[in-house]
Amino acid sequence: MKVRKAVIPAAGLGTRMLPASKTVPKEMLPLVDKPVLQYIIEEAVEAGIEDILIITNRSKSPMDDYFDYYPELERRLSESGKEKELAAIRRPADLANIFYVRQKETKGLGHAIGRARRFVGDEPFAVLLGDDIMRYQKPVIGQLIEAAEKYDASVIGVQEVADEAVSKYGIVKVEPLDGKAFTIRDMQEKPKVEEKFSNYAILGRYVLKPEIFDLLEKQTPGVGGEIQLTDSLKTLCTQDRMIGVDFEGRRYDTGNLKGFMEATIDFALDHPETGEWLKSFLKDKAAQL
Ligand code: G1P
Repeated sequence: MKVRKAVIPAAGLGTRMLPASKTVPKEMLPLVDKPVLQYIIEEAVEAGIEDILIITNRSKSPMDDYFDYYPELERRLSESGKEKELAAIRRPADLANIFYVRQKETKGLGHAIGRARRFVGDEPFAVLLGDDIMRYQKPVIGQLIEAAEKYDASVIGVQEVADEAVSKYGIVKVEPLDGKAFTIRDMQEKPKVEEKFSNYAILGRYVLKPEIFDLLEKQTPGVGGEIQLTDSLKTLCTQDRMIGVDFEGRRYDTGNLKGFMEATIDFALDHPETGEWLKSFLKDKAAQL
């Protein structure tokens, strides 16, 4: 099993990041010096993905401009000897083969993934949610791809979350398999804590077999009246092997203000130009609080 393609759903309305996301897609908001979406694409590329489909909507055109060349600006930077900036603006356009399709109606994550059918064809594919940023030693989607190849199965990235957070996520029912890999037996989208199968939450990374598309086409609306990916995965896990991997890495939800700020601080601490400065700034701040 070789995973060459990735799908990034980025067609949400960004209602948890208003007013900033009113005219700038939330996926294009900067984390330190790069938009959120670039980190996600870089993770996929580091894991060996070559072709990427971004599911967009009518308000997301700044995305395709960003992953394109910008000859006028490049010429200006080149003439003034700004080689570093020139390389930085060329890089997004050279990262991967990027394709776009619009989700014409906002009908949920499952409906968005369904738009990828023609792009994916008959191959397993990766899914990276456009809000979920990972800080890792080894790309999280690469960890899932390894498991998909090892077990010839669909794979979902999971981690344990606190009881208070269970109702924000897809939750899986698991059986131990091998170390950090589990067999998934069932799942539920955003359950009440009293009804949870476990504390293992789905955190924005998947490797799926193309059989998911038939299920998505038949899927009836679930939580929130939306076509939920989790509901079709629940069926798929009864028909075929599905593995949960408790992945190594830290996940941030950049679709809400607090998650976005946590990610900004951690990535700025890692950044060679801002890390040392931010550390001393935070120490001084903490001493005053
Ligand atoms: C989606 C999925 C959910 C998953 C979550 C991870 O929910 O439906 O199963 O746990 O992403 O971020 P959303 O956050 O879009 O409501």
